[in-house]
Amino acid sequence: MTVLWEPVRGAIDTFGIALGDDVTVVAHAASIDREVGSGDHHLVVIGPEVPAESAYELAEQLRIDRPAVGVVLLRHRLEVSVLTQALRSGIREVVQADDHAALVDAVRRSEALSARLGVAAGEPGSGGHVVTVFSAKGGVGKTTVAVNLAAHFATTGARTLLVDLDLMFGDVGISLQLPPTTSIMDLVSMTGHLDGQGLASVVQTHEATGLDVLVAPHDPADADRVPADLVSELIRLARSTYDYVVLDMPPSMPEHVLGAFDLSDLLVLVSTLDIPAVKNLRLAINTLDTLGAPQQNRLLVLNRADLKVGLSAKDVESAIGYPVSVGLPNTMSVPAASNRGVVLAVDEPKNPFATALREFADHKVRPRFGEEPTRNGSRRIGRRRRAK
Ligand SMILES: Nc1ncnc2c1ncn2[C@@H]1O[C@H](COP(=O)(O)OP(=O)(O)OP(=O)(O)O)[C@@H](O)[C@H]1O
Ligand SMILES: [Mg+2]
Repeated sequence: MTVLWEPVRGAIDTFGIALGDDVTVVAHAASIDREVGSGDHHLVVIGPEVPAESAYELAEQLRIDRPAVGVVLLRHRLEVSVLTQALRSGIREVVQADDHAALVDAVRRSEALSARLGVAAGEPGSGGHVVTVFSAKGGVGKTTVAVNLAAHFATTGARTLLVDLDLMFGDVGISLQLPPTTSIMDLVSMTGHLDGQGLASVVQTHEATGLDVLVAPHDPADADRVPADLVSELIRLARSTYDYVVLDMPPSMPEHVLGAFDLSDLLVLVSTLDIPAVKNLRLAINTLDTLGAPQQNRLLVLNRADLKVGLSAKDVESAIGYPVSVGLPNTMSVPAASNRGVVLAVDEPKNPFATALREFADHKVRPRFGEEPTRNGSRRIGRRRRAK
């Protein structure tokens, strides 16, 4: 299916025959991300009335964001300067607007290339899901939830990358006992031109689960050297090659975290039954609301939900304003697993924490993306839809 970007009315009458039946016409660039994000569109045709600079900008973004989506540019006149700039920005072809036969050919070539790229990227990886695990208080179980969730996805066959964005004190690497070799620091020199090969060269694979992991800098002093732009670039690239990108967060909201929120399809908010955790999470949610983050893309996880500490799940729900999607039990098996470098949800499948976590992943997270789990936990991917 094709998106035709043209602000002038009647474009569908002019180009409809050349573009075929499945065309969605949009007047603004802002609508394009939503259309291509649905995963159904593999071609954006930019009409002759769209300013060339805006066309280049969109093509540059799509090249990183959704490499399988092709861009064809229509111009009233073909000029060398436009052709050169178009090629540089990643536009596949520039076609004279009144040459409908050339447009038909360009569409066909672009669709063939998109089909090959889609397969290379491992569908549905070209539009993977970004799941961010956050709380505004330290020690509530963000890393525990992120690691278990990501590892569970990986063991069910989903290509999954876990990124430790707690840049100062990230402990994903140590809790999975990965050797301290590469880290996100190794990507800093690639900022602005990060590609799949670069990312693959720094990712480590957790052998027992097949989970790919990108760990935080080994030295907390390096945290400031990781630009927020790199983090956004990394997430965009990762979601074009993985089915799931799980982000483990610090208990604060620096710039790179805000950038990651913007790119997240789902926010998993973690709280425990203590007033500081609940209060801080409420304040963080207020900030997200103020920033215009979509409110429907949030799920609340109550960790150590069975502790009798005078605060109930109902109290947390009314303070936070979201229902508790899952209550995870308090169990010494959690720290014991991380001390052994194993993932509880995978290593001890019958443990109550593991069953609750998997239930959450399979019945609360996956359905958000149109995926239904089968009985043995493997994936059945239905019509994909972004939670946004
Ligand atoms: N359900 C649980 N039962 C028992 N212990 C748990 C549970 N969840 C987490 N823990 C333990 O609590 C500690 C903190 O958990 P974790 O590191 O996941 O929290 P965090 O929110 O990521 O912390 P930080 O903000 O420091 O990154 C760890 O030692 C972990 O093993
Ligand atoms: Mg943590």
